[in-house]
Amino acid sequence: MSSGGAQPLNDPRILLIGNANVDVLMGDVVPWPRTGTEVVVDRYELRVGGAAGNTGLALKALGVVDGEGAELIGSVGDDALGRWLEAELAGAMRLTRVPSSTALTVGLTHPDGQRTFVSHMGHLDHLPLERIEAALDAAAPGDLLLLCGYFLMPRLRELAPGLLERAQGRGVVTTLDSGWPSEGWSEAVKGEMLALLPHVDVFLPNREELLGVSGVPDAGRYEAEAVEEALTRVRAAGATRVVVKLGPEGALYDGPDGRARSQAPAVKVADTVGAGDTFNAGLLAGVQRGMSWQAALEPAVRAASIAIASAPRRYPGWDEVASAAAR
Ligand SMILES: Nc1ncnc2c1ncn2[C@@H]1O[C@H](COP(=O)(O)OP(=O)(O)OP(=O)(O)O)[C@@H](O)[C@H]1O
Ligand SMILES: [Mg+2]
Repeated sequence: MSSGGAQPLNDPRILLIGNANVDVLMGDVVPWPRTGTEVVVDRYELRVGGAAGNTGLALKALGVVDGEGAELIGSVGDDALGRWLEAELAGAMRLTRVPSSTALTVGLTHPDGQRTFVSHMGHLDHLPLERIEAALDAAAPGDLLLLCGYFLMPRLRELAPGLLERAQGRGVVTTLDSGWPSEGWSEAVKGEMLALLPHVDVFLPNREELLGVSGVPDAGRYEAEAVEEALTRVRAAGATRVVVKLGPEGALYDGPDGRARSQAPAVKVADTVGAGDTFNAGLLAGVQRGMSWQAALEPAVRAASIAIASAPRRYPGWDEVASAAAR
């Protein structure tokens, strides 16, 4: 167990590879605008977005620091928004500047709680490959690799099988949060993801993604046979362990060492953006500190639930999620 300060040498390092971008939220927009008109809204927020960006902020709050117990790898465009993103993530995630505009998502909120997103992919096509290769070359057995933002990063998508295989070859524990494919779970996308699973030690889907990748129809229940059937399929495809995020129901673990379940605390949700990313941060932080995957569900769920209930957004520290887990 490490307790703040420098990371002891025998603790595994966390390697994160994924997407950080800028999110602009504006709203509420009602009714949907007609082409060629202008809409004025009351609320405006500029914030860090992208799975890796959110995970980086959550890891930092949990005491996992880039350059010490972790290496968080992402890129950023060479422009004003990129500078802003670098500053926001300073001390959490080091971004490599690439010759591109910074990826930007504009989210329009609507009074019924729905959101409409418009995204420009910008720098997300540029992988800082040299840094990734150096990090993999320096990795030690037992280190923890998290790939996220998979479907939003075409280069990562191309290179993922090789990178995961190489990591596993060094004894690194590979984890993957694919997110939702923008093209949907077509036969080709399912095939691509199932082919990746033999290189994934811990697969981290949410319930809908689990059902999507395994082609199991959504019966609309959390603990239904649908989830069971899907778990059987993804484990048969080669994922050694699976952690399924179940929103307000918490999370479920299935692996060679059995099953575990963690119920989410009842919270008043302020904003669910980044729930899954914060969960991943709590999970990896727990395992880094010597917890089993099963035990690490607790701090993972707790971290996510606390974050999404906060406004403005606040990511909890380790003591806060650990003391809750011990109760
Ligand atoms: N309504 C809620 N109440 C309490 N906790 C919640 C709620 N929704 C999500 N969570 C917390 O967030 C965690 C991750 O949930 P979720 O299933 O939403 O992940 P996700 O769909 O991958 O999220 P994301 O949209 O960020 O990718 C849950 O395990 C739980 O701890
Ligand atoms: Mg998710």
